[in-house]
Amino acid sequence: MSRPEITEDMIFQCFAAAQQSADSTKTAQSFVDVEEYENQIMYPEFARWARTAGYPQLATLFMKVAGEEKLHAVWLRELYDDIGVPDRGEDTQRAIDALTTIRANCDALIAQNPDGVVEKALKVAISVEEREYQDIYPRFRDQARARGDLREAEVYQRVVDSEAEHAEWFRAALHEFQAGQVQAAAH
Ligand SMILES: [Fe+2]
Ligand SMILES: [Fe+2]
Repeated sequence: MSRPEITEDMIFQCFAAAQQSADSTKTAQSFVDVEEYENQIMYPEFARWARTAGYPQLATLFMKVAGEEKLHAVWLRELYDDIGVPDRGEDTQRAIDALTTIRANCDALIAQNPDGVVEKALKVAISVEEREYQDIYPRFRDQARARGDLREAEVYQRVVDSEAEHAEWFRAALHEFQAGQVQAAAH
């Protein structure tokens, strides 16, 4: 019987990229949509994998980051009265579909190779955070600055700093995990 595999590329499909638009409200809506997706769906799922694999400390880290993604959405919502529940962006919907596909056989994979799944989730989390703090949100910040919207530029800068910190936490966690220093729960 062939063993199903979850590759890092497959998990990376769970990343939804916020879309920059000439219309700042549309950019803000896409940002809120993506951050709330990470808060409500993506990182809680990574946390579930870590918990199932027997690494409650890593599950706690994923949930801590999930909570901060919520905060990023809140910071930007404070500048807009009218975001409401943003329409699901195309890329977010694609990411949700990818996650649903993975979830369908993830538990079996975690049973076979728990460390492999957790290590890949950490690597993907690092890539997600790097894309955001090195590329996507600096562009949003620069666009707001060019428009003369300094309050909004300041929020995006705060988000860039926060995503950089998330990448750092995940790098440290991956390092410890690979060194066998993350305690596994009895299961
Ligand atoms: Fe975020
Ligand atoms: Fe983040």
